[in-house]
Amino acid sequence: MDDKPISKHDILKELDELHQLDYDYADGRILGSMCTQAHPFAKEVYCKFLDTNLGDPGLFKGTKFIENQVIKSIGELLSLNEPYGNIVTGGTEANIMAVRAARNHARKYKGIVDGEIIIPDSAHFSFKKAADMLNLKIVEAKLDNNYKIDVESVRNAISDKTVAIVAIAGTTELGLIDPIEELSEIAFKNNIYFHVDAAFGGFSIPFLKRAGFDFPVFDFSLRGVCSITVDPHKMGLAPIPAGGIIFRKQEYLDVMAVDSPYLTIKTQSTIVGTRLGASSAATYAIMKYFGKEGYTEIAKNLMDNTNYLYDNLIDIGYEVICKPELNIVAFNHPDMETNELADKLSQYNWNVSVSKCPVAIRIVLMNHIKKSNLKELIEDLKEIF
Ligand SMILES: Cc1ncc(COP(=O)(O)O)c(C=O)c1O
Repeated sequence: MDDKPISKHDILKELDELHQLDYDYADGRILGSMCTQAHPFAKEVYCKFLDTNLGDPGLFKGTKFIENQVIKSIGELLSLNEPYGNIVTGGTEANIMAVRAARNHARKYKGIVDGEIIIPDSAHFSFKKAADMLNLKIVEAKLDNNYKIDVESVRNAISDKTVAIVAIAGTTELGLIDPIEELSEIAFKNNIYFHVDAAFGGFSIPFLKRAGFDFPVFDFSLRGVCSITVDPHKMGLAPIPAGGIIFRKQEYLDVMAVDSPYLTIKTQSTIVGTRLGASSAATYAIMKYFGKEGYTEIAKNLMDNTNYLYDNLIDIGYEVICKPELNIVAFNHPDMETNELADKLSQYNWNVSVSKCPVAIRIVLMNHIKKSNLKELIEDLKEIF
């Protein structure tokens, strides 16, 4: 830190210069991110609530009411009339909360001490963080030939130490939806906590269904589902950080509660203490602003772009890993190694990411990517070969 104060002008000048080094979503060249530009109205609301602290909700009763309303609205989208949960920083924190609830529940009601969680090979790495923090062992279930969790592999992985089974509605690498209905039944019959990570798919599957897309059931209408992660800061167009964790029952929050002596509440179940009310307020605003109709249009448009890219890639000789279920397309070229292709694309100033299983270029068709960007991308991909 400097000894003397610096003028706002000079500070802003320096910050602007550094900000110039960042990629800008608006250029449409960020192709591998699951985040996007938040809607301007959501940003406006966010700024109004920057001083609110939901860690001490008795001081911010209005903002706490807003968080409850957001949880209620997201719960309803997921077929749960009385949801419990919180708006947190993102999918990682939401998944950690779900795993913590499962572990504590199993410890309290089944006496399981050295617990295990069964996750698919395709699970987001946040579960590895959760297991590490919560002292749980990860048991990885295999994927089938379609890159979805293999149900038999899950069945075989169950032991008397299993505290949770996890399935994904919108995998990070390919955007695929696991066979959640079957897994829900297995979990229910074995009395095991079942968590669905819909961090990516949660803000689009319900709307695509509404538009007539044929998707399997993935939500609380399945009796085995105990919690679902849904991220407003992905397809919900809320500002970062906004993740959502929705629980079927209050008892899952209760088993995580610790005393919080100096606050306006007696106990706290969230991982962080002081936490932003701005994320809840901005999510509330943007959900009202778009309504189901608005989100349905957005989700349809994303799928339209996804299918456009998929069809064109096939036309120009690229190999697409699978028919997209959500807005992710993963591909390779038969005559070039994936990382070399990724390097070539970065020379054309495209920012792509490479998936691990299978190894492929992975494009996430978020809201900032327009058809005109895709046309340019396809021209560049043609030029590479
Ligand atoms: C399926 C899934 N779960 C969890 C996460 C973690 O979300 P976040 O980066 O918001 O913590 C991601 C991130 O992309 C994801 O795709």
